Amino acid sequence: MKRIAVLTSGGDAPGMNAAIRAVTRCGIARGWDVTGVRHGYRGLIDGEFIPLTMRAVSGVLQAGGTMLGSARCPEFLHDLGIRHALERMAAERIDALVVIGGNGSQSGADALSRAGFPVVGVASTIDNDLVGSDITIGVDTALNIALEAIDRLKTTASSHHRAFLVEVMGRNCGWLALMAGIAGGAEIVITPERATSAEQVATVLSSAYANGKAHAIAVVAEGAALKADALAEALQRQHGDRMGFQLRATILGHVQRGGVPTAADRLLGTRLGAGAVEALADGAYGVLIGMLRGSIARTPLSEVVGRQKAIDPALFELTGVLDR
Ligand code: F6P
Repeated sequence: MKRIAVLTSGGDAPGMNAAIRAVTRCGIARGWDVTGVRHGYRGLIDGEFIPLTMRAVSGVLQAGGTMLGSARCPEFLHDLGIRHALERMAAERIDALVVIGGNGSQSGADALSRAGFPVVGVASTIDNDLVGSDITIGVDTALNIALEAIDRLKTTASSHHRAFLVEVMGRNCGWLALMAGIAGGAEIVITPERATSAEQVATVLSSAYANGKAHAIAVVAEGAALKADALAEALQRQHGDRMGFQLRATILGHVQRGGVPTAADRLLGTRLGAGAVEALADGAYGVLIGMLRGSIARTPLSEVVGRQKAIDPALFELTGVLDR
């Protein structure tokens, strides 16, 4: 192994820079050259390479986003995209690639790996939906941003005796919503994994105020069948009289992906980035580097792609017990 490349792909996640820095410095420490690929798989196809030195990754730990840039590049999964990427890497004399990203990005990594190229993935997405990692880079920061919003919404909810529906990201997965709901003390969490009717939501929110609570908050995953704004409108229309209070919807959106990464995300990014270099040094290719039960784990990409990590049913049960 002489020269490795690293790219970030898909939705950016706070802590990606820590992973880039760790890959760069751990790679250089082993005597390898490290190359950064700009703008994810798009840059790999177009040949956007930059040298990564020890100094090039100075001062990036505390920066959100990704210093390499990211992109969504669906055409990468086609044979032509893979072929162009392989040609570019051969021309640059790149021996192996580290792909920092979520589900779609790891599908690209798997495709390259199946084409015979040495690739290692690093689990990074605020959605926390990757099989092979209990927690992924960016989740902790996104969660803390959601919590700050929930804490703030509670005060205005209680001042106006209103209920708030807070929509958090997560694509088709309810992990982020569930964690935000539990840590934020929401009255109910609505996820894509469990069917919840507007009737149920109305009952839970009404009982919050009926039971003397100072606020009523529902956390809604963006992938849930009932979207926060449509749900607020439906609840007001169908159950407004019974509830006797107003509803408002707040959609957090991309705010959750921005800003300074938390200590947990900087540490996780660093540990997973270092784990990726170790895997390459061991010749363990075609794996995702994640964190399982507190330890760095290598899971074959073939077991990761096309699947979604199931959410813990026990956490669901907890929401029903704690938030009374
Ligand atoms: O995968 C991360 C994520 O933020 C999802 O939670 C969300 O559904 C999606 O990306 C948004 O994608 P984009 O940034 O392309 O709008």
